[in-house]
Amino acid sequence: MDVSEADRGESRVEIEQNPKLLALIVDDDDDFRTSVAALAKREGFETRLAGSLGEARKLILDTAPDLVLVDLRLPDGSGLELLADTAPASDTEFVVVTGNASVETAISAMRDGVIDYLTKPFDSARLTGVLANVARTRGLKRELNGLRWQLRRLGRFGKLVGCSSPMQEVYNLIARVAPTTATVLIAGESGTGKELVAETLHELSRRKDKPLFAVNCGAVSPNLIESELFGHEKGSFTGADRRHVGYFERAAGGTLLLDEITEMSPELQVKLLRVLESGHFLRVGGNEPIEADVRILAATNRDLAEAVSSGALREDLYYRLNVFTINLPPLRERGDDMQLLAQHFLDGLNAAEETQKRWTPAALRAIAERPWRGNVRELRNVVHQAFILADRDIEEDALRAFEPIRTNGEPVSTTGDDKLEVAVGTEIAAVEKKLILATLEHFEGDKKKTAQTLGISLKTLYNRLSVYRAGSESGAV
Ligand SMILES: Nc1ncnc2c1ncn2[C@@H]1O[C@H](COP(=O)(O)OP(=O)(O)OP(=O)(O)O)[C@@H](O)[C@H]1O
Ligand SMILES: [Mg+2]
Repeated sequence: MDVSEADRGESRVEIEQNPKLLALIVDDDDDFRTSVAALAKREGFETRLAGSLGEARKLILDTAPDLVLVDLRLPDGSGLELLADTAPASDTEFVVVTGNASVETAISAMRDGVIDYLTKPFDSARLTGVLANVARTRGLKRELNGLRWQLRRLGRFGKLVGCSSPMQEVYNLIARVAPTTATVLIAGESGTGKELVAETLHELSRRKDKPLFAVNCGAVSPNLIESELFGHEKGSFTGADRRHVGYFERAAGGTLLLDEITEMSPELQVKLLRVLESGHFLRVGGNEPIEADVRILAATNRDLAEAVSSGALREDLYYRLNVFTINLPPLRERGDDMQLLAQHFLDGLNAAEETQKRWTPAALRAIAERPWRGNVRELRNVVHQAFILADRDIEEDALRAFEPIRTNGEPVSTTGDDKLEVAVGTEIAAVEKKLILATLEHFEGDKKKTAQTLGISLKTLYNRLSVYRAGSESGAV
């Protein structure tokens, strides 16, 4: 999995100790009430009982129950009236019980904010399922409330640091979509935190106890990616000497992040679309449809409209994924978050290294003024490097040492479409330098990707960069 272990769990949301959930059971049938109450108790709920709407109203006001399990037919009216009475913002969940559930009643009840319904005579397994569902939903709501509280107090939302208004919008979207089953497209420049958003979506979903897998579609060879995703049967192609279980099966019950989705071939995009529409997939070489019990998140650092018009992202898949899009703003549009993040990364390093290094005001100002084309990832790397260099006070100079390299003060010249212009007769070393710097710029300072793409080791890349840096400091081109 791509998700770094160091980041995982680092800041699992702290929530106050969960008190027991309270269920109010409203029914005029004594036996029914007591047996439901017994079951609810077994599932860890505290219970209150009411035999009429009147009694129920009073108990709702007095105890603010987490769950109201209410019969539709009560001596003094319909159970649905309770819902109408309860303020829309209330946290109470409703489950409707009915002796003669017509489909219409059930549907209209669902529409009115009832999370589930039961028919009489109920089977206890179904009721247990409903109660477990309520408990999970309540757990997620509590977790979300915990996060909102954290945001107000600490300027962070789980692992996501930042309280600028564009980020608050992002948190609102996350909070709205996380508990649903919707596919989410996460778009944003490289290093803006798309993977972190995917982790947050997973952790705030009912799937959080199941795995989250991140597949980088750009990093898996095009020949292998279909079998990586869907698995393959033994003998389905040369070299397939055993059955292989793909990510769709391994992530069953959980979440699958398809990172760099535009790197997937158009043919595979069609297959993915079919899986999203039908809910089933086939292993390569297999003919038995397998249920795709995964929630799909997709991420891209490309401009979506451009990706569609250039054909990198099929339009039909785009529309299917675009049901819910979270656009992560670049760091330079997040105001004071830059300093907040710099402090956050510094706190982490101080804690890990048992040091007490601190920013000077000038350094913090310099942080606010940089364009951060590599976004949070660049900031994090720069903080780390400056931390290593500084004794106690981290001065502005420590940051300057890591400004993006420029050839003789000028940005590396490209033709604007990611191609380099090189005059015939240019020295090979100069071409190499141009190529390395332009690739580095293309990947927004990501050295690993640059080295991988150029087919050189990371060590070689570092060596070259330090030579170039020494050259530019001494004024050479
Ligand atoms: N809001 C944030 N708060 C704290 N850390 C963050 C935040 N956003 C990003 N990071 C950190 O910055 C680094 C880059 O984030 P991430 O890998 O999620 O970016 P990305 O958008 O997926 O980048 P890419 O497009 O290159 O895959 C990670 O180390 C991540 O933990
Ligand atoms: Mg990523």
